[in-house]
Amino acid sequence: MSDGRSPRILATGGRGQLGHHLDEHSRSRLGGGAVAVGRDELDLTDPASIASALDRHAPEVVINAAAYTDVDGAEADEAAAHAVNAEGVESLAVACRDRGIRLIHLSTDYVFSGEVPGGGDPATAPALEPHDPTEPATAYGRTKLAGEQAALSVYPETTIVRTAWVYTGPVRHGQGLRGSDFVDTMVRLERERETLTVVDDQWGSPTYTASLADRLLGLVGGEARGEFDARGLTLHLAGGGRATWCDLARAVFTWIGADPERVRPCTTEEFPRPAPRPAFSVLSDASWRAVGLVPMEGWRQDLARAIAHEGWVAQRERGDLRGPGS
Ligand SMILES: NC(=O)c1ccc[n+]([C@@H]2O[C@H](COP(=O)([O-])OP(=O)(O)OC[C@H]3O[C@@H](n4cnc5c(N)ncnc54)[C@H](OP(=O)(O)O)[C@@H]3O)[C@@H](O)[C@H]2O)c1
Repeated sequence: MSDGRSPRILATGGRGQLGHHLDEHSRSRLGGGAVAVGRDELDLTDPASIASALDRHAPEVVINAAAYTDVDGAEADEAAAHAVNAEGVESLAVACRDRGIRLIHLSTDYVFSGEVPGGGDPATAPALEPHDPTEPATAYGRTKLAGEQAALSVYPETTIVRTAWVYTGPVRHGQGLRGSDFVDTMVRLERERETLTVVDDQWGSPTYTASLADRLLGLVGGEARGEFDARGLTLHLAGGGRATWCDLARAVFTWIGADPERVRPCTTEEFPRPAPRPAFSVLSDASWRAVGLVPMEGWRQDLARAIAHEGWVAQRERGDLRGPGS
């Protein structure tokens, strides 16, 4: 795959936010199309559908963006999450290995315990590296870690890319994406409430899906040109810098022209969830840089791009702000 040509890419989870953006960005980034397939065409829990999708599209690279991503749902039904995130990933890895297809598999910050390393200050504690201990505190994290291990066990050349706090923002509705994400939710709540409280003691790496897709395609393109070889590596790829959810919410308010002081900080204890959220999951980009890859920009720059997305701006100028949550 190092002849400089754009490789044929198949993205799984094609109706999800990353799958959608891989499809969209591959046209501009590689000049070729990634085919993004939804669960209806490639179901990770069905090895026959994996085989037929791979044989039909004959990709050289698979980017696995499909996952059971409902963190609270996984806590209630870990078996369902495990079937997709662990067993399904193993089936995909076997199918890719047997066909000589390069596999890039997406994973998550939830493979870490969420504790601040050394119990230090989360504002300054060292960001997490791939070699730091993985001790997931949630069912979702356990199933994603099991998926990483299964893929590497049956197909050691798989590249694992862990990311975190992924959002698309309000343009997602115009893009036909279902559900919502944190940034999109904050834009909606700004219209609905005078003030809101947002957790200020969980630290992470906000990641704009469009940039994530762009950097993943950079990995595929660079390998095709023979610039580096990331096979078998576990890498971290997320927005630069660090933030609390409250920081992110206030930045959203600022970018849409609202008063950020309307967002009030609260603690995790004041906002309990079925699955415990990590207090600290800031990802370091050192592993990504070490390969020779371009890391993501600071999260504030990327958030500005998400809010300034022309599709969303046009929607706002038309006064058409309704999303599924409205
Ligand atoms: N979102 C985040 O904050 C975040 C953070 C860290 C890591 N990640 C990881 O990043 C990757 C992409 O996440 P995302 O945000 O794009 O998630 P997403 O928007 O929830 O998309 C996931 C997609 O996977 C599909 N899927 C679920 N079960 C499937 C199955 N059995 N077979 C095939 N497809 C299936 C879903 O299909 P349906 O549409 O039919 O349900 C959905 O379209 C995942 O590996 C996720 O774990 C995400």
